[in-house]
Amino acid sequence: MTESILQTVLQFYHENRWEEALKVNKNSDNLEASKVLWVWPSLMNLRFLKKKCLEFQMEGFVSLGCGCGLLEWFIHNATGLPVMGYEINEAWWKSKYSCPQFIPLNFSPEIPDSSMLNSKCALLFCYFNNRPAFLDYVKCYKGNMVIIIGPGEGSGRHTDPEPFKPGFDSPEWILNDYQEVKDTKDYVAVYVRKQANRMLGWVFKI
Ligand SMILES: C[S@@+](CC[C@H](N)C(=O)[O-])C[C@H]1O[C@@H](n2cnc3c(N)ncnc32)[C@H](O)[C@@H]1O
Repeated sequence: MTESILQTVLQFYHENRWEEALKVNKNSDNLEASKVLWVWPSLMNLRFLKKKCLEFQMEGFVSLGCGCGLLEWFIHNATGLPVMGYEINEAWWKSKYSCPQFIPLNFSPEIPDSSMLNSKCALLFCYFNNRPAFLDYVKCYKGNMVIIIGPGEGSGRHTDPEPFKPGFDSPEWILNDYQEVKDTKDYVAVYVRKQANRMLGWVFKI
């Protein structure tokens, strides 16, 4: 990322002007900006995340593989809900080579345990690229919502899991809803545990 784009985002961050920071990559066409965050959401995407969270009585988000936490900072500011972020490679993130961070990072133990995954929060994976770890996290998680943000068909990009190919190793996760991120062919896909999908989703629609 060029110094000037990073400096601009950091300046807005320090002034807590998150909507201005979001506009730095308004059309999601700035390759330099995508080095700090793969998916720059629209306000509509952020509202969608809040709506789905509230619909299923989730109280916040736990983001796995949050990187520098810029997306998480946007989500927290736009939704007013807490967002906790986890990463690996603590030594690197604390070194002089790492990108500045927009939320305090937490570091995953080698083997995740359910205490780090608040069951009242939705699990969030954005451009996650580690299938075994994804499956381990989901297996540990006792809550009702898993959100996958990543590339859809024909985008030319790849993550694992992908939003529409989650490859859960249990049939209890149902695709409840999804939304494209602007017109990028990236998607936010919301999976809900079968039982909650039946009960809470239905109650909300009354
Ligand atoms: C492609 S980056 C995406 C970063 C950020 N979510 C974004 O959208 O810009 C994937 C991130 O997942 C992290 N990661 C990989 N395995 C992980 C694991 N087991 N637990 C937590 N994070 C992990 C990597 O360190 C990396 O920062």
